[in-house]
Amino acid sequence: MVVDMSEWKAISGLQIAIDGPSGSGKGTIAKTVAQAVGLPVLDTGLLYRFIGYSSMQNGATDEAGVLACMDECLGDMQWMPGGIFVQGKNIGDKLRQEDVAAAASRVAAMPEVRRRLLHVQQDIAKNGCVMDGRDIGSVVLPDAQAKFYLTASLRERARRRWSQLQGLGAEVSLDATLNEIRLRDTQDAERTHSPLKQARDAVCIDSTTMRIDEVVDRMLSIMERRALIEKT
Ligand code: DC
Repeated sequence: MVVDMSEWKAISGLQIAIDGPSGSGKGTIAKTVAQAVGLPVLDTGLLYRFIGYSSMQNGATDEAGVLACMDECLGDMQWMPGGIFVQGKNIGDKLRQEDVAAAASRVAAMPEVRRRLLHVQQDIAKNGCVMDGRDIGSVVLPDAQAKFYLTASLRERARRRWSQLQGLGAEVSLDATLNEIRLRDTQDAERTHSPLKQARDAVCIDSTTMRIDEVVDRMLSIMERRALIEKT
């Protein structure tokens, strides 16, 4: 099946939760699915990256400092389809750097940070949304009608992240990227609060040897079979 972007219509208020580790392709896939079914998309990793980035800028390291910084920076932030904006500027490129990813992983382990972001995320999703992250199917949108868990081998995920970083002009080796991803996998899966895990009712797709469009096709077919989307 080839995805035709105008071919699908989603049931009212459809929530699609997509979880998975770094480099599993969930960001690109979430965007493509959202476009195909006409829903807004939120990459929740960007929210954690935004808090990590703002904490770095303010020199906040412990949880109290991060929370104080969060109160201020969330007020300046606007989420719009297309990304996170501060004073009208999309700051996506800044948030995608590796030092910001490491800061995001640290703040993501803080329970109060997660609790506050939970409401932000649920509010964005209330009228229907494609949302990708680590705990969307299990914690943020436990009642989402469609849940997917995407994964791929560590090496393949590192290769994908590395070529993304090359595109951003970063000088980093594949081995260093692989080690970073391995470290983040461990931090995200082993933290006490909302660790990365597959929701019991999520469909798992291993994309190691699949193209993006093949993964998207599989997800659309599953949702069509469940009458969550239909051809227009
Ligand atoms: O997907 P990403 O690499 O942009 O995510 C950045 C960090 O945020 C990553 O360490 C995991 C964390 N995160 C999270 O804990 N929960 C989410 N729903 C999304 C991201």
